[in-house]
Amino acid sequence: MTIQHNIPLQPLNTFGIHAEAANLITINIEDQLAEVGAMPQPKHIIGGGSNILLTTNPGGLVLLNRLKGIEQIQEDDSYIYLRVASGEVWHHLVMHTVQQGLGGIENLALIPGTVGASPMQNIGAYGVEVKDTIQSVTFWHWADAKMHTYTAADCQFGYRESIFKHQLKDQVYITSVVYKLSKHPVLNTSYGAIEQELQTMHVTTPTVATVAQAVINIRSSKLPDPAVTGNAGSFFKNPTIPIAQYETLKAQHPTIPSYPVTPDTVKVPAGWLIEQCGWKGYRRGNCGVHPKQALVLVNYGAALGTDIWQLSTDILRSVQEKFGIELEREVNVW
Ligand code: EPU
Repeated sequence: MTIQHNIPLQPLNTFGIHAEAANLITINIEDQLAEVGAMPQPKHIIGGGSNILLTTNPGGLVLLNRLKGIEQIQEDDSYIYLRVASGEVWHHLVMHTVQQGLGGIENLALIPGTVGASPMQNIGAYGVEVKDTIQSVTFWHWADAKMHTYTAADCQFGYRESIFKHQLKDQVYITSVVYKLSKHPVLNTSYGAIEQELQTMHVTTPTVATVAQAVINIRSSKLPDPAVTGNAGSFFKNPTIPIAQYETLKAQHPTIPSYPVTPDTVKVPAGWLIEQCGWKGYRRGNCGVHPKQALVLVNYGAALGTDIWQLSTDILRSVQEKFGIELEREVNVW
């Protein structure tokens, strides 16, 4: 197996941060995992590199996931089941399913990253989370040197959460995911912006393809293209707070948006909180807060990972001071 040394990671992370991997192995076939697992060094996996902030040169082994393949494994009256290798580009999978008229992940078009990251953080957008389409996840467990398959229930999915970010963090290498895609799609256009965009597109009878296109249009208009401006999508999670705290805040800030979570809690958009603290469009040297979406931190050129980390710390502090809410970073910090 080839180990490459001192490999620049700038092209491999969507923030475009300059860093170097001391040792990098490209994983092309699952059979490599037994040998890699026997190596004692700590392991860091990069898929699309779209949810990491590099604040240092990673030591140990950086594993570049390039496992490829989309395979139909089952079909019944309602669903088609696709087993997809974890190194496939997520958006390519979405387009593949949409072209066949299959429903389930059309609202998740244009989310950067690879298939392996989709169960890891239960990716979501425009009223849909991937957990509702995932049938199972297969992974190699480093410690017991075996493949395991977990059902969706085993994965303990939550908002941007799964067992892979907790109990199994750094313990496994996700190799493939089985998605259950509907042959009779039920479209989810209830998220306001989608309805509006479909109208702008003059679509009267939406399909999975036109919904995906509407999502692509909305995302392209609000979120920076990582090929142009380095970023990792939402930098923070939307915090969930107790109703009582929300009511107090609403009395002071009547326009605060919210989404119900449980009878006792609501989610409030971090982008709104950050904007209210005056950060939207803020620039400090080579990094800043996106002018159209305050939840997204951007690298305008040669920002260091530590510059972005510092900016995020300052944002956390000001949101805490103004609203008494502690934001949590969504990106993985290396
Ligand atoms: N808002 C502001 N100012 C901002 C940004 C947002 O006031 O700068 C307000 C909006 O007006 C709206 C609310 O916040 O009332 C929600 O904004 P938006 O619909 O843009 O979504 P979000 O909650 O900021 C989440 C996801 C995104 C996903 C969008 C659309 C998280 C952490 N982020 O953002 O996911 O695309 O919803 O569904 O849940 C990602 O995870 O990388 C990501 C981009």
